[in-house]
Amino acid sequence: MIPPSTLLFFFLALALVASPATVTYDWNVMWVWAAPDGFGRPVIGINGQWPCPPIEATVGDTVVINLLNLLGNQTTGLHFHGINQVQTADMDGPSGTTQCSVPPDMGLKYQFTVDEAGTYWYHSHDMGQYPDGLRGPFIVHDPVDPFEGSYDEEHILSISDWYHNDSITLVRNMLNPSNTDFRPPLPDSLIVNEGQGFELNVTKGKTYRIRIINYAAFAAAMVHFDSHTMGIITNDAAYIKKEKAYHLRIGPAQRHDILISVGDRDAGNYPFLVALDVNRDWTNSTETMSWPLNYTGHLVLDPSLPLPAAQVVDRWLPPDDALFKPYEDIAAYSPYDKLITLDFRFCLDQNGYPRSCFNNLTYITQKVPTLYSAATTNDSNTNPIVYGQVNPFIIDYGITVQIVINNLDSASHPFHLHGHQFQVLYRGASGSGPWRGDDGLDYSVFPPWRDVVTVMPDSFAVLRFRAHNPGVWLFHCHIEWHVEMGLTATVIEAPDRLRGMTFPADHIEACRRMGIPYRGNAAGNTHNFTDTTGFRLVPPTTYNGALYLPDDT
Ligand SMILES: *[C@@H]1O[C@H](CO)[C@@H](O)[C@H](O)[C@H]1NC(C)=O
Ligand SMILES: *[C@@H]1O[C@H](CO)[C@@H](O)[C@H](O)[C@H]1NC(C)=O
Ligand SMILES: *[C@@H]1O[C@H](CO)[C@@H](O)[C@H](O)[C@H]1NC(C)=O
Ligand SMILES: *[C@@H]1O[C@H](CO)[C@@H](O)[C@H](O)[C@H]1NC(C)=O
Ligand SMILES: *[C@@H]1O[C@H](CO)[C@@H](O)[C@H](O)[C@H]1NC(C)=O
Ligand SMILES: *[C@@H]1O[C@H](CO)[C@@H](O)[C@H](O)[C@H]1NC(C)=O
Ligand SMILES: *[C@@H]1O[C@H](CO)[C@@H](O)[C@H](O)[C@H]1NC(C)=O
Ligand SMILES: *[C@@H]1O[C@H](CO)[C@@H](O)[C@H](O)[C@H]1NC(C)=O
Repeated sequence: MIPPSTLLFFFLALALVASPATVTYDWNVMWVWAAPDGFGRPVIGINGQWPCPPIEATVGDTVVINLLNLLGNQTTGLHFHGINQVQTADMDGPSGTTQCSVPPDMGLKYQFTVDEAGTYWYHSHDMGQYPDGLRGPFIVHDPVDPFEGSYDEEHILSISDWYHNDSITLVRNMLNPSNTDFRPPLPDSLIVNEGQGFELNVTKGKTYRIRIINYAAFAAAMVHFDSHTMGIITNDAAYIKKEKAYHLRIGPAQRHDILISVGDRDAGNYPFLVALDVNRDWTNSTETMSWPLNYTGHLVLDPSLPLPAAQVVDRWLPPDDALFKPYEDIAAYSPYDKLITLDFRFCLDQNGYPRSCFNNLTYITQKVPTLYSAATTNDSNTNPIVYGQVNPFIIDYGITVQIVINNLDSASHPFHLHGHQFQVLYRGASGSGPWRGDDGLDYSVFPPWRDVVTVMPDSFAVLRFRAHNPGVWLFHCHIEWHVEMGLTATVIEAPDRLRGMTFPADHIEACRRMGIPYRGNAAGNTHNFTDTTGFRLVPPTTYNGALYLPDDT
């Protein structure tokens, strides 16, 4: 995150470099047949292609996506992961939060400015849909890149777990009272660059910037390059002071840009290993670790020479990304004005179905998208009652917020905030128990920024952000299966500035076609906003994901 003075300088500098452009994509979302790991299945692609294309823009540009849903049997929508959406909260994309799902045969436009450089990605945020394939890279180039000149080429390396069943089947099997140990579906394979693999032709004396993105629905990944250190230069979209590492762990939805240099004395070809981390706790030396899914790629100096097998890594020792230093010495926001404590544990709902809870409440999608409620409930929009069971937290404009996540589960979980990068002031080691207050904790003076933090098993993390971006922003575990279990809270930021907000006609039309009210409280009551009649208080026992069921609405 950039202080305003730097921002001003930056925009002046930008004005000298290039004038902002508009980058437009016309995208038909449709089913495509693909076999990224050799097993053929329908996947969700764009314009008849899968993998989905990248979005590329430069800081200051306007990005326009003209989406047309040609899926026939499913609704859809797009979220632009990590993009702050300053003044465009209605373009963030999660269905039920900032828009209605887009039904088949309907078009919808997203338009927003990209204000910060970095490696991002986009994906469907409509009912657990993205593991079926609707995701791709989103690169925002930086005209004043602090690492410019320290690399020669840049490449994208996406990593993902992959399933042979479609997401709806997987979630239906998971959301079942017989699943008493809250088991998520386990992946069938690991794919890299959506199955196309990553073999990098390299030349002596050159340095390569590799933008690593983890698209996974479930698993983190470990990365190791044989005989070459990685120079890690970003945490998600935030620059850090370069950190050298032999191992890197990248959680679901996280990104790290790394530099790899090929030296004059290098000879032959070098393997690199990507290993899916499906373990509950990679730091627990007594736990039996399992590394069932690996991918080996190569830095290819000489294609006439053999491609060696990857070295076996006996013990993964990735550095602690919560201790990385931000590129600029921006101090921790202090003190904070509001504390949000989120105790996460698995829980059972009223029907005995497995769910996940924050503070003993599971997230239940309401009728009216939460942002639309914030815009249309007058002065009542500062009252959390009006939003229903979406775990709402009301935040005043301009304040500093501290979020404490207590992970009461014995596995690690990657938590993501929309609309902001946050500072990671502290991350407890595995097993350190819940937060016991600020005292006695050695908070980072210059904490790193990012938009997804992995919280260790039976432990906690302390995050801060400043509320300068009015909107409705989800905070959720980025294991997609846990989102479908309800592991989500909603930050309602500066509701006084959201009153009377208007929405594009096509976004409202999506609600009309879906038969969803777009005004009033969570149940669409426009007369008495605190009347909770019609609120959804129990999660549905049948799961239909993004299936389009016109009779149901
Ligand atoms: C939706 O349609 C696609 C393409 O025809 C098909 O492969 C898929 O099984 C359908 N999905 C569901 C859940 O009906
Ligand atoms: C995948 O689908 C098959 C057939 O419907 C089913 O037998 C299997 O249990 C499913 N696997 C998971 C992990 O849901
Ligand atoms: C790498 O080099 C080989 C041999 O010159 C070439 O066939 C291959 O297409 C190159 N691969 C990439 C990804 O550029
Ligand atoms: C490590 O794993 C063992 C075996 O599963 C467990 O008993 C122990 O509590 C774990 N330790 C920590 C610190 O999580
Ligand atoms: C994957 O790599 C890890 C680390 O080298 C190794 O322990 C594991 O045996 C490998 N798994 C497979 C299935 O080869
Ligand atoms: C949540 O539930 C747990 C276990 O049932 C209980 O110990 C705890 O007090 C509850 N917390 C709140 C905030 O209600
Ligand atoms: C909300 O404000 C609008 C515009 O001032 C007004 O027309 C409407 O009656 C108000 N609704 C309620 C329920 O107070
Ligand atoms: C609005 O609904 C609440 C809850 O049902 C009720 O207590 C309140 O009296 C109602 N207000 C009006 C003005 O009807």
